[in-house]
Amino acid sequence: PGTLRGVVAMDGPSGTGKSTVSRRLAAACGAAYLDTGATYRAATLAVLRAGLDESAPAAELVAAATAARIESGTDPAGPTIRLDGDDVAAEIRGPAVTGLVSAVSALSEVRTQLVKEQQAVIAAALTEPGGIVVEGRDIGTVVAPDAPLKVYLTASDEVRAARRGRQDARAGRGVDSAVTLADVRRRDRLDSTRAVSPLHRAPDALLVDTDELSVEAVLEELLRLVSERGLLT
Ligand code: DC
Repeated sequence: PGTLRGVVAMDGPSGTGKSTVSRRLAAACGAAYLDTGATYRAATLAVLRAGLDESAPAAELVAAATAARIESGTDPAGPTIRLDGDDVAAEIRGPAVTGLVSAVSALSEVRTQLVKEQQAVIAAALTEPGGIVVEGRDIGTVVAPDAPLKVYLTASDEVRAARRGRQDARAGRGVDSAVTLADVRRRDRLDSTRAVSPLHRAPDALLVDTDELSVEAVLEELLRLVSERGLLT
């Protein structure tokens, strides 16, 4: 379709197909791709590797999370994430990290540091030809408030839990569907009620409801939006 210029901010809760369509969008228009959720997950893995859990004092959680060296590779064909030099792409999707990530990502010092690192990745990508598609919870509100296109993906919690369940099954993790739905709701609650950068739609973000839309249909809609905004060259 052409090459993207600038930043596309993709926000919304988990299970909306955000990662899949963000990667596909980046690949389709020659852009880089940054999954900011993976950086919070890597910081959470650092906390676990330091032998800490939710019961630890916040200062210790912050110290462990901010000491971590997190490197994000931005190729949409094979995004990578390293923690202190180790490839942790698989480990950060496991239940231990998923169980603790909301608590770690609610810590303001952790967010300040990771947002700064995410903004550095975005700035570096923008020095190359092609823009960047950035996905997360606070991209349009905090990380890239000047992004020329902001999209907020939604879907009902049942649809999102079903998608998460299929993802887990593909990854060989058998999880009871009632547990998955409860976990989706628990994380939504934590992510949208936390004091710092809660998940909410930026006033200028376009709402895309994915309940009834296939990945292909969402991608088509996104390509239409970037083109309409004049972001393809
Ligand atoms: O998208 P994900 O499930 O991989 O995100 C993991 C967690 O990180 C999620 O519970 C919310 C948090 N997160 C965040 O607070 N801010 C972001 N920009 C991205 C993710």
